[in-house]
Amino acid sequence: MKTLFLSAADPICAETAANIIKSGGLVAIPTETVYGLGANGLSEEAVKKIFEAKGRPQDNPLILHIAGPEQIEEFAHHIPQGAYDLAERFWPGPLTIILPAKDFIPRRTTGGLNTVGLRCPDCDITREIIRLSGVPVAAPSANISGKPSTTTAQHVRHDHEGRIDCIVDGGPCRVGVESTIVDLTERRPRLLRPGGIGPEELLEVLGDLVVDKAVTAQIDKDEVVKAPGMKYRHYAPQSEVVIVGGSREKAAAYIRSHFEPGDRVLCFEEELSLYEGCNPLSYGLEADVNTLSAGLFAALRELDDPSIHQVYARCPVGGGVAYAVQNRLKKAAAFHVVDAEEEL
Ligand code: TXA
Ligand code: MG
Repeated sequence: MKTLFLSAADPICAETAANIIKSGGLVAIPTETVYGLGANGLSEEAVKKIFEAKGRPQDNPLILHIAGPEQIEEFAHHIPQGAYDLAERFWPGPLTIILPAKDFIPRRTTGGLNTVGLRCPDCDITREIIRLSGVPVAAPSANISGKPSTTTAQHVRHDHEGRIDCIVDGGPCRVGVESTIVDLTERRPRLLRPGGIGPEELLEVLGDLVVDKAVTAQIDKDEVVKAPGMKYRHYAPQSEVVIVGGSREKAAAYIRSHFEPGDRVLCFEEELSLYEGCNPLSYGLEADVNTLSAGLFAALRELDDPSIHQVYARCPVGGGVAYAVQNRLKKAAAFHVVDAEEEL
């Protein structure tokens, strides 16, 4: 298959991509979070192609991307007030809301569940593609299953060139980590995945929030979880990753004393000089957490190299999007964290 490349700036881009989706094809779409692998979310056949291209387990549901908040009622029912409040405050934006699904949504899309994740992305070209296609666009992150997510069109090309119909290049993703997922199908709102919207912001709107266990701990393969995607090994390069917490100086002392040739250090820009000779890679500025979220997956992809034995990673502290960066790094590290303050 020849993959068509379209620039978001090309005047025929939205129409061409929408036509491919209408006819059952796969289109990689930019969003503010990560690139998605999109298809007609109402077509079993089209959705099947997404699972095949990604190598994704069948029980892992897909998010439906919609063109505007008014479309919530087309695809969900029994919608609580909180969903409208969240949509008004955060859409278009990096938030996915889980709601009871209307019956016509294929179970292949929802991974067999009777709920559906809806998201209105903050990306003009992609909302235009959705609008012109006339269907909700099912799209997981465009990476091959288990690999770090795709935050540039080049990442998508690396994973899927020749295997999907089209890639829309909208430049690097602004947020860089996937959307926050909140489940509103139970009595209490539940955070299933931290992302571009911080938990404090959700709490402000909803007045209540339970943090799902899958966010804070390693989930066993056979455990039943609310967001099936959270139980699979994720975001991880092929090497072992360990997060080293503590002050800049203590962490550097710990890492330097354990470092062996062939290891790598993933750190903040401000720390590069502490790791001379340790082949450090910076993923952004500690002083600006948005640069860390935007740079994280590109860095994890660069470290996805079988010749690297061990990666020592530095992780930001705090809430907001830093909470999502912590979550992704912990998952990449299989929750292996050492505290340099205690270890030395
Ligand atoms: O930012 C994002 O959300 C990106 C962009 C492309 O929009 N998409 C994305 O999709 O991250 P994906 O498939 O990589 O992650 C979706 C997560 C999975 O963990 C899945 O299990 C969960 O959302 N999910 C989807 N529908 C669900 C549902 N009905 N109930 C519970 N979890 C659901
Ligand atoms: Mg994903």
